[in-house]
Amino acid sequence: MCGIVGFTGKNNAAAFLLDGLQKLEYRGYDSAGIAVLGDGNFDIQKTVGRIKSLKDKTENGNTVIGNIGIGHTRWATHGVPSIENAHPHSSENGLFAVVHNGIIENYVALKEELKSEGVKFVSETDTEVVPHLLAKYYNGDIKSTLKKVLSMLEGSFALGIICKDYPDTLIAAKKFSPLIIGLSKNSNIIASDVTAIASVTKDIVYLEDGEFAFLTPNGATFFDSDANEINKSISKITWDVSAAEKGGFEHFMMKEIFEQPKSVSQTVNGRIKNGNVVFEDFKLTAEKLTLINKIFIVACGSAYHAGMVGKYVIEDMARIPCDVELASEFRYRNPIVDEKTLTIVISQSGETADTLAALNEAKRLGSHTISVVNVVGSSIAKASDDVIYTWAGPEIAVATTKGYSTQVAVMYLFAAWCAKALGTMKDSEIADFLQEVKSIPEKIEEVLLQKDKLKEMAKKQVNTSSLFFIGRNLDYAISLEASLKLKEISYIHSEAYAAGELKHGTISLIEDGVTVIALSCYKDLTDKTLSNIKEVKARGAFVITCTQNGDTDFEKESDEMIYIPKIDKRLIASLEVIPFQIYSYYVSYHKGLDIDKPRNLAKSVTVE
Ligand code: F6R
Repeated sequence: MCGIVGFTGKNNAAAFLLDGLQKLEYRGYDSAGIAVLGDGNFDIQKTVGRIKSLKDKTENGNTVIGNIGIGHTRWATHGVPSIENAHPHSSENGLFAVVHNGIIENYVALKEELKSEGVKFVSETDTEVVPHLLAKYYNGDIKSTLKKVLSMLEGSFALGIICKDYPDTLIAAKKFSPLIIGLSKNSNIIASDVTAIASVTKDIVYLEDGEFAFLTPNGATFFDSDANEINKSISKITWDVSAAEKGGFEHFMMKEIFEQPKSVSQTVNGRIKNGNVVFEDFKLTAEKLTLINKIFIVACGSAYHAGMVGKYVIEDMARIPCDVELASEFRYRNPIVDEKTLTIVISQSGETADTLAALNEAKRLGSHTISVVNVVGSSIAKASDDVIYTWAGPEIAVATTKGYSTQVAVMYLFAAWCAKALGTMKDSEIADFLQEVKSIPEKIEEVLLQKDKLKEMAKKQVNTSSLFFIGRNLDYAISLEASLKLKEISYIHSEAYAAGELKHGTISLIEDGVTVIALSCYKDLTDKTLSNIKEVKARGAFVITCTQNGDTDFEKESDEMIYIPKIDKRLIASLEVIPFQIYSYYVSYHKGLDIDKPRNLAKSVTVE
């Protein structure tokens, strides 16, 4: 996730900027840069890679002279990690320099308009529209210019801006991305979180969405979105700053679980336009899709489970046969693939060795390839014909949560895109479906409210050695992910079964006290799953059932219940997985295990 810092004061700005950026390193980044205004000119220094090399390049900031500046760590979203794409970005007339965290969702339209007016862009970023817009609308009055430009930006942003005409004024603006202002005697500063501020001051101001601020070395002035001056109260940093990098959570995994509403909305919102899905720069056209007679989804681990959800939803909506394969199997089994096959590979890291090899195998056999990847510029992204990025932000906990959720969200978008291209659904049905997709983030928020209840429930599994998840259709696909989550971080043996398969063998393992977790949210099949629950209950199982609000039929047969909000049955994965991420987290927590780094596992599996 990008990080922002900014400084205006009596000392040299660069030293604070570089130290501040180093404190934001934990957020994940691939490039960094600073811009300092001194002697009427910006000195902009950038690097691909670590802050350390920026420090070396500038002799710890000593060669960059000036008392006001902005800095940025970039986690690539629009455009690969490179010097051109690294922030700060500046306007052609050299008047403005800008750092940005978030996504400007309407940047394509803004960029096209600016380009048609002759503006030359040097980066592939969404951010670069901001300095160009500021330059375009600048009328000598920075406040009205800012009001105008901010009102044009859709999506999310935290912005740090400096302007040559205001040589001691640091400008901060925020909408849906974090930004904190620190006030002190000799300097005023901004940063994405308190870790970068706490060593300078404990007095902070939280900007609300839509607000902006002008900071000088002597004070700060705050404005609402209509540019009316407002008063803001000063808060004190009282909490443990080392916890700030985890956003106040004890572990990255829980922080990332709670980031899911934002990650999903970042992944879907900008791509849903007028009731349809738009994938930028997509080489697969609707026409080409009509020639495809089979889809392979290939991935490993949780990404494979996201692919399972994709299979159910794509087949249901677009009526194309779709197989999901483990990459380690696909790559060696001489699969039947030709130019009429579409291959989708899914990978959070974009570096998984088996997935990359499977992708190359599909390409060699003539298939068009699409990757669903979280890391811009990763090997898998570079090797595939098309990329659909999941905009989850960096995932640090080994067990994926927001990675999976955003992969599943992309599956919905792709299914809707195919349904439109192939005419398998009416436009109005697709628009309704996408409207439901947009409701996912707020419904995830509702599920997250059950955290404390799940913490209590999880205590009962601390001494469990083996348990089972069961479900049908999408509930089964989600069972696979729920089961993996639990086993990888709690070390409890867990298996996921298609509920109808139980009586073909596994039911012999059910005896008094064995926990069976039944997932039963897929509307058309809840009666069938209820019968399976009765079967295991009759053999002494301890049953936990997850179903949709209002479906109380299960209560009689279950020892514990988890409810999720009602949603279109094709979208249940996005809600139903959340309680089990939290539940798994707490089983591991109660057992005192290393939640963020479970034994024997690596975040990125770059060997087969
Ligand atoms: C489980 C988990 C792994 C990954 C798998 C693929 O929580 O994180 O199962 O899903 O190793 O990794 P990527 O998505 O990076 O290819």
